[in-house]
Amino acid sequence: MTRTVYLNGDYLPETEAKVSVFDRGFLMADGVYEVTSVLGGKLIDFGGHCARLARSLSELEMQNPHSDAEWLAIHRELVARNEITDGMVYLQVTRGNPGDRDFAFPGPDVAPTVVLFTQSKPGMAESPQAAIGLKVISIPDIRWGRRDIKTVQLLYPSMGKMMAKKAGVDDAWFVEDGAVTEGTSNNAYIVKGNRIITRQLSSDILHGITRAAVLRFAAEAQMVVEERPFTIDEAQAADEAFITSASAFVMPVVQVDGGDVGNGKPGPVATRLREIYLDEMRKAAL
Ligand code: PDD
Repeated sequence: MTRTVYLNGDYLPETEAKVSVFDRGFLMADGVYEVTSVLGGKLIDFGGHCARLARSLSELEMQNPHSDAEWLAIHRELVARNEITDGMVYLQVTRGNPGDRDFAFPGPDVAPTVVLFTQSKPGMAESPQAAIGLKVISIPDIRWGRRDIKTVQLLYPSMGKMMAKKAGVDDAWFVEDGAVTEGTSNNAYIVKGNRIITRQLSSDILHGITRAAVLRFAAEAQMVVEERPFTIDEAQAADEAFITSASAFVMPVVQVDGGDVGNGKPGPVATRLREIYLDEMRKAAL
């Protein structure tokens, strides 16, 4: 089946969707994105992703081209046309095509470019990785200072994934001033005693939509949440570690820089939070 993608109001076969070479997303990484998971044909935490999209656009002084209801209709149409049961919808809005290359932003007459496409991942919630856990290395965080905006500037996170791959592990955690900021494409947590520790929200990290939901469920389950920076030494001495993201949900981390976390196996807190997250989010899916 040829994938149908969305481009500026049209549903097209992927081979027919064309974006200009002058698009500022292509030339300047001048664009923002969202990734929303689909489970059982329904969108997970759609409201959260819509709210963050609006914020990313507004921080970059870009107009939001659609209302939340319109975004929902486009997402649903793409999921239906591509017969997605489990997978993701990727959405990107760039500052559009001013017809030439220029550092200055174009005026309001230049329309944004809006692209959405789906990725099918049958059984993604039953990933065998959740029973094994991830191994991570730490690398310096040399990204720009507005990591709270979900921009398409993903070169360094991509390099981080490659560093992890070369080191024979699954992912990398960024470290700045001695403390973990987040993972290459996820938020990072450790568990010590009865406390779940994760960095507080600021422009140092992306404000994860999965993070917000998981911390809410943790509090509801009477777990203690401490929002503060933590070090790699603390992670290695922790009982458990895990990451969260829209595509991985809650995923245990069992090794950090070669040192086992706890007994080197996925721990009960991460496992329980994954169950709660998937149960609750499936119930609330749109
Ligand atoms: N990544 N931190 C970073 C740097 C991210 O790129 C992501 C998401 C997260 C988690 O945010 P959320 O829970 O809203 O997915 C944290 C997405 C999934 C991606 O780039 O594919």
